[in-house]
Parts: sequence; C-alpha cells; structure tokens
Amino acid sequence: MAIMRALTKHLKSPKAFGDLASVDGSTNPRAQFAVHNPSTGELLAQLPDMQAADVVIAIDRADAAREHWAALTARERSDILWKWQQLIVNHSDDLAAILTCEMGKPVAEAKSEIAHAAAYIKWYAEEANRVYGETIPAPSTDRRLIVIKQPVGVVGAITPWNFPASMVARKVAPALAAGCTVVLKPAEQTPLVAGAMIALAKTAGFLDGVLNLIYASDGIAIGKELCSNPKVRKISFTGSTEVGRLLMRQCSDQIKRISFELGGNAPFIVFDDADIDAAVDGAIQAKFRNGGQTCVSANRLYVQASVYHLFSERFTERVRQLRVGDGFMPDTAIGPLIDSHALAKIEAHVNDAVQKGAMVRCGGRRIGSTGTFFEPTVITNVVGSMRIAQEETFGPLAPIIRFDDPDQVIREANDTIYGLAAYFYASNLKRVWRVAEALEYGMVGINTGRMSSEAAPFGGVKQSGIGREGSRHGLEDYLEMKYLCMGGL
Ligand code: SIN
Repeated sequence: MAIMRALTKHLKSPKAFGDLASVDGSTNPRAQFAVHNPSTGELLAQLPDMQAADVVIAIDRADAAREHWAALTARERSDILWKWQQLIVNHSDDLAAILTCEMGKPVAEAKSEIAHAAAYIKWYAEEANRVYGETIPAPSTDRRLIVIKQPVGVVGAITPWNFPASMVARKVAPALAAGCTVVLKPAEQTPLVAGAMIALAKTAGFLDGVLNLIYASDGIAIGKELCSNPKVRKISFTGSTEVGRLLMRQCSDQIKRISFELGGNAPFIVFDDADIDAAVDGAIQAKFRNGGQTCVSANRLYVQASVYHLFSERFTERVRQLRVGDGFMPDTAIGPLIDSHALAKIEAHVNDAVQKGAMVRCGGRRIGSTGTFFEPTVITNVVGSMRIAQEETFGPLAPIIRFDDPDQVIREANDTIYGLAAYFYASNLKRVWRVAEALEYGMVGINTGRMSSEAAPFGGVKQSGIGREGSRHGLEDYLEMKYLCMGGL
C-alpha cells in the first residue's frame, strides 16, 4: 500500500495527513485498488480495497461511539468541528493539490472547493448550538407538550467524485453537529482528499469511531451493506438517480431514513428582457464550472428568438477562449473528464445531435488520442428529440435551443423526470416571479449562474432527490423529533 511520488511532490506538508493509505479496520490489507490522475494517467496511490466485512467493523465502531458522542454538549461537538475547519483552512493548498491530482479540476477551482468545504464545517459548528425544540400549548391544564430533537444515529455517507471535498463536508459536518456518528465511503476515483480530510479530523480530536472511512473500489457492495445493516439509521448519498433508486430499494426493508442528491437536467433560459452580457457570464459559470461535471450544470440553454443570435455569438466567443489542460497549468479553465466513459458519452451526444441536424459552433472533439480531454463545445439548431436535450451530459457541451413562446419554454423546461436546478435571466419583475414559481425545481437561479452556498438549502424535487443539504434545513435531516407528553400536572 502506498502513496506515490506523483502525489506527494505537490504537497508542502504531507506529514500532516499521516499515511493516507492506512485506514482503520481493513481485514485484508493485500487487496488494493489504484487511484490515477485523470489528466496524466499517473498512478497516485494504492489503497486498501475494503470489503463488506470491513464495513461491518466500521459500522460497529460507529455504533459503539454513538452514545458518547451524542452525550457531549453541543458546544463540545461544535468546538471539535471548529478545530477541524481551522485545520482544513491551514492545509487548504495541500488539500487542493490532492483534489486536482485525483479529479483533474483546475487548482483555482480546487481551492474554491476546499474553501466551500471549510465553510460547511464552520456553518455546522455554529448550527450545532442551535438545535432548538418546541413547547406546544396543551389542550388541557394538566399536561405539557414538548418536542425535543435527537440525533438519528449511525449515518452511512456516500460521496461523489465531482466534488470530493465539499460533498464530504456537506454530509459529515451536519451529521456530527447533530450528534450522529458516520461511516463515510468516498467515490473510488477520488478517495484521497476525503482521506486527507479525515486525517485532519483525527488531529482535531474526534473520538475513535465517530468518523470512519471506507476506501473501496466496489461501491455497490459497500452501499448494500450500509443500506441493509440495521445499525445504520440513515443513508446520505450524492450521485446518479439510477444508483439512488437502487439504494432507496435497499433501504426500504428497514424504512431507513434517506437524504439523496441525484441527477439533474437543468434548463437555463434567457428571455428577451435579459441583460445579455450578464446572461453570457452566468451561462459560462452554470455550464463550464467543474468542466460541466456538476449535477446543477446548465444542460439545456433556451434562448428567446429575438436575442438568440446575439446571445449565441457572444457566448460562443467566450467559450472559444476557455483553455483546456492539466489542472496545475495556470491558465487552465477546464480539466479532463473523469474517465473514458464520460468522454464516450459526450462524443455520443455530439454525434447524435449532428446526425439530427444540429450545428457545432465550436469544439466538438476530444483532444489528443489519449487522456480524457474534450473541447468546450457549443451546438446550435438543437431540438427536443436530440439526446443532449433529454439526458444529462455531465461535460463541457452547451446545446442552445431557440424558443418563441415564454409559456411553452416553461413547459419544456419542466418536461423531465429531474427537478434539481434551473436558471433564468429576465428583468421584468412580473415575469421573474411568474417564472420562478412555475419552474418545478428545488433550486432556481434568477440572474445568476451559481447558487451553491453553505447558507442555503441545496436539493431537488421529482427524481432529483429527497432532503436538503446546507442551511439549518441540512441539520434537520440528521435529527429525529421526539414528542414528550407530560401528564398528571
Ligand atoms: C453538485 O452536487 O454536483 C454541485 C455541487 C455544488 O454546486 O456545490
């Protein structure tokens, strides 16, 4: 088991993270899996490949730590979360470098993600102290009705590869703040930054068993154990709708609590009263942040006929300027796609659209014969029957669809099984309210292309998920409500 020089050469103080390849409770240290840099193909680490039996051990440890952790005062839990947050801030350059190595995103974006992760931990260190109950006026004088909030128990947290640091913080911090203990399974493509964050958590003083890490290549087997083990009381998952359905079925036997943040198919609508330059800026953000690999990426750009030409020209010009390359190069705006499957999907979407009459305005091809780089791409003459108009691309491909009727565009925007994020640009206040209320989405960006924040409830409706992360609502998802009825008074 080892961490390779390809990773450690980027770190200022690798010792702060201990031996990233060592993990508590691996029963078969000879089973390993490899983590590669998607930009260079270099081997970064060989990690223990933990199995379902190891997950059982981790769950037992989390269960054993549960009572003690829940019994601490909110302030005591909060203090440890603060220390963890501070350590993450102090080591943010190294954490960002690990993230860029294993995921490929530009290092400036990686730094912003680490700052976002720290912001979630800070937020929940504060929220830990504000878990309020209720007293309810009783219907008779001899009774008192009270509601208290208690931690759900052991939480299984399964995090994705596209935001491998902030998604850990977004799940783990509220769970710990609420008094839950956690078994964390980061994505097999990007486990290292999670491992580094957990190493810092240990330094911060989390007690043994409170936060348990599972390195494993077989996410399905690990998910099955987490969902079927009765000691786990809740699953929090971010990933595809397809895997969400599987986990939900597995949780149903025990009526386990779930919080799911799943796939999206975000519309981005530009109305004729929009500030076009602002809309172009917003579309660049909403489409190309993280190389288009976010659940809230603008997947379909609808532009009203009278501003279609102007918007398409200015947007395409901006996209042509986006530099693709290794995340450590200073002018890189877009890194590699996560793997060859992602590359094949975006190519298939482009080919399908072109065959059905779409026009490639820029990009459209992979870069180089090896690696997973793809040109930032704009396609026009897009119609609803094309795959790009219906499926989540998860890559740097922007299809532009012309519309005439503002009512029809809302119907088209809502015509999907997904309901995570939508965006629109308009200036008329009446229109702004009407459209914001009519879009069937958990989050709507109005004249902005970016809305993720620790202070706001992130999550979707329809088949995009259940529950919310961030804000005070994100804490509620890790708390049970208990009604106390005191009689005979
Ligand atoms: C995502 O979950 O894909 C997006 C996360 C974010 O925007 O913070």
